[in-house]
Amino acid sequence: MTEQHRQPHQLKGQGFDTRAIHAGYEPDPMTGSVIPPIYATSTYKQDGVGGLRGGYEYSRSANPTRAALEGNIAALEEGERGFAFASGLVAEDTLLRAICNPGDHVVIPDDAYGGTFRLVDKVATRWGLEYSHASVSDIGAVGAAIVPGRTKVVWIETPTNPLLNIGDIEALAAVAHDAGALLVVDNTFASPYLQQPLVLGADVVVHSTTKYCGGHSDVVGGALVVRDLELAEWIAFHHNAIGAVASPFDSWLVLRGLKTLGVRMDRHCDNAEQVVEFLTGHRAVTQVFYPGLEEHPGHEIAGRQMKRYGGIVSFRVTGGEEHALDVCAKAEVITLGESLGGVESLIEHPGRMTHASVEGTDLEVPSDLIRLSVGIETAEDLLADLDQALG
Ligand SMILES: Cc1ncc(COP(=O)(O)O)c(C=O)c1O
Repeated sequence: MTEQHRQPHQLKGQGFDTRAIHAGYEPDPMTGSVIPPIYATSTYKQDGVGGLRGGYEYSRSANPTRAALEGNIAALEEGERGFAFASGLVAEDTLLRAICNPGDHVVIPDDAYGGTFRLVDKVATRWGLEYSHASVSDIGAVGAAIVPGRTKVVWIETPTNPLLNIGDIEALAAVAHDAGALLVVDNTFASPYLQQPLVLGADVVVHSTTKYCGGHSDVVGGALVVRDLELAEWIAFHHNAIGAVASPFDSWLVLRGLKTLGVRMDRHCDNAEQVVEFLTGHRAVTQVFYPGLEEHPGHEIAGRQMKRYGGIVSFRVTGGEEHALDVCAKAEVITLGESLGGVESLIEHPGRMTHASVEGTDLEVPSDLIRLSVGIETAEDLLADLDQALG
């Protein structure tokens, strides 16, 4: 598979929405099909042994629908090469296997997504990986968590899940690079529309494309995007060797979602801002976490590195865990469910749901915390629903 075929038509220099709609795919020369077909094929007829058409030989190694998605997401992140996976977590696992060896060390956020923590703490450590955790908003703490000579990866999320802490990508890239480590940024919460970590010095971007990239809660997927072509080759080798690739249909769904990412994100942000204003004035709410709030400790950095502040809002309620669970149960328009980033609003209790795997560890989240993924419904309906759910 040649570079040209895997990452076609990146439309460098064009606006975000133009890239979202066109990058990664040229209308099919035979039919003019404007949208990439779902190439539901496992293999490709060869014109003689080794005579590949367009570089395709077997769909684990490459598939044209997946290649269109990979080119598209690479263009949106301003990277050189993208890789589409069957889930966000397997993208993470493949990346760790590609970069790390037994005895190596990684730094992860002290409020990492629970699944990332579980992957590192319960799976990767069995293969000899060691880790420390630090707050992404404390550059000194991240620096202190690095083990000189052994730390290969500084892994951050920004904003973090679910406490919405902000890490300064540029500064953290410098800290990681000084130690000879790579900075990996999980950009799931911001999406490439709001933040492009590679432009700020990060080495790898990770996505759970299940979330904003797909955007319609109808697919599970993951992606990696890199700038460095040598690193890209190494990841490409592991992508194929491990084989947890996105299927043609899933690739098609994510690609369709990406085309409207910009308009969706703007509406998510508009609605989130209204929800934040409502929650901050509510007597049953004790604390609201949103980087768009001036009092948020990461507000200034978020303003610098993000286009807007995103669609996720977390908040704590009076009455402890019992009340938090009650609010989740009473929401009607806002659906009780895990995940985030879809067109519909979702509410969840991180302590019992997405972050149950960190219970009893240093990474445990407050039990009165609720996380909202603010969707793109009519804002007034969301506010009315929150009002009745909060009692
Ligand atoms: C920030 C973040 N990273 C990674 C993942 C894992 O992605 P997936 O569920 O697609 O495997 C999630 C899932 O919720 C997430 O929220």
